[in-house]
Amino acid sequence: MRVAVIGTGYVGLVSGVCLADFGHQVTCIDKDADKIAALCRGEMPIYEPGLHALVQSNAQEGRLQFATGIAGPVREADAVFITVSTPSRRGDGHADLSYVYAASREIAAALDDFTVVVTKSTVPVGTGDEVERIIREVRPEANVSVVSNPEFLREGAAIRDFKHPDRIVVGTEDERAKEVMAELYRPLYLNAAPILYTGRRTAELIKYAANAFLATKVTFINEIAELCEKVGADVQEVARGIGLDNRIGTKFLHAGPGFGGSCFPKDALALIKAGQDHEAPLRIVETVVAVNEQRKRAMARKVAAALGGNLRGKTIAVLGLTFKPNTDDMREAPSIALITALQDMGAAVRAYDPAGMEQAKPLLPDIAYASSAYACVEGADALVIITEWEQFRALDRGV
Ligand SMILES: NC(=O)c1ccc[n+]([C@@H]2O[C@H](COP(=O)([O-])OP(=O)(O)OC[C@H]3O[C@@H](n4cnc5c(N)ncnc54)[C@H](O)[C@@H]3O)[C@@H](O)[C@H]2O)c1
Repeated sequence: MRVAVIGTGYVGLVSGVCLADFGHQVTCIDKDADKIAALCRGEMPIYEPGLHALVQSNAQEGRLQFATGIAGPVREADAVFITVSTPSRRGDGHADLSYVYAASREIAAALDDFTVVVTKSTVPVGTGDEVERIIREVRPEANVSVVSNPEFLREGAAIRDFKHPDRIVVGTEDERAKEVMAELYRPLYLNAAPILYTGRRTAELIKYAANAFLATKVTFINEIAELCEKVGADVQEVARGIGLDNRIGTKFLHAGPGFGGSCFPKDALALIKAGQDHEAPLRIVETVVAVNEQRKRAMARKVAAALGGNLRGKTIAVLGLTFKPNTDDMREAPSIALITALQDMGAAVRAYDPAGMEQAKPLLPDIAYASSAYACVEGADALVIITEWEQFRALDRGV
């Protein structure tokens, strides 16, 4: 099948290259000409394990191309994926859908023959209806079916997640669109990954509900960790003790500095807004967001307490800046709030991250960046490990 992917970020690039690897003919499009030029030179715009080799092999075999112009690839495509960003709208926390709608207009203008337009960006319930309305406004005669196909991949394990998903959610009631989606994902289906066909609105909500549930799990164990510290219990053992219960599961029960990243914070906020708008408030999720917000600065107070309450004149070494290991993504990383709080208390901060320092520099301009983990720690009054990169596990504490 011929596929066009609009927006070559974390999701677009990974989805595009994996679909090419399944044997489809894919063009990844981005309006960022520098990004496309770099990809054409074989340089990856993001840090994601395994991505470079997969892009290289699929480009060499002629299944994967890159472009800035939308018209040609969309005209020829059987399916067009929208994978542009949907950040929090400034001021009110609703999802900013301007990129999705702009892409929909551009797609509409280029459509030819029957085409399935697939929204893979995380979007609020009803966005598919609006995408369809926009397309029909621009091209009333368009032979098109708009489908929701939310993405559940995790940065740092994105290729594995795309190729071995727990499930594929396809929101459509159109039989022609189902056929195209089934053909696109046939290699996964053969691998026994379940495809869940739902209504379009249901598919849109599944994505937000999944992220909000996971964020709730993280926040729950973080609150339990607080109680453990007060009563002399071990949160890791508590997590194991409850996680081995199949009804609960072991994942997302690692206490830490609070959740961050490009998805959980904005998606939880957007879901809260949807709940309020539809008079179905999501009070649990509202509390999760509030608790998580407090957690990051509370961690800085813990560091201060460990150093006797006063951080003025102290140097704190920080290992790990990205919001999780194996990515260079700094969006909403807990390190930002935690480090800012340490600085507010008078500390000097020196940090090291294996992949995220370039991305961190504009967000955290007033800290020192070390060349290695050991250089970071040398002479510091305290060490804070924020992101659990594998390489920090076996540091020689005697050095
Ligand atoms: N990052 C993740 O782990 C993840 C996981 C699941 C779902 N999602 C969702 O997927 C969507 C994309 O997220 P991301 O992290 O990949 O975003 P991103 O910011 O990394 O990439 C988006 C890309 O789209 C491009 N773009 C915007 N408008 C365009 C247009 N009209 N034409 C061509 N290119 C355009 C931008 O230049 C950018 O390169 C979001 O809705 C996000 O919530 C992300």
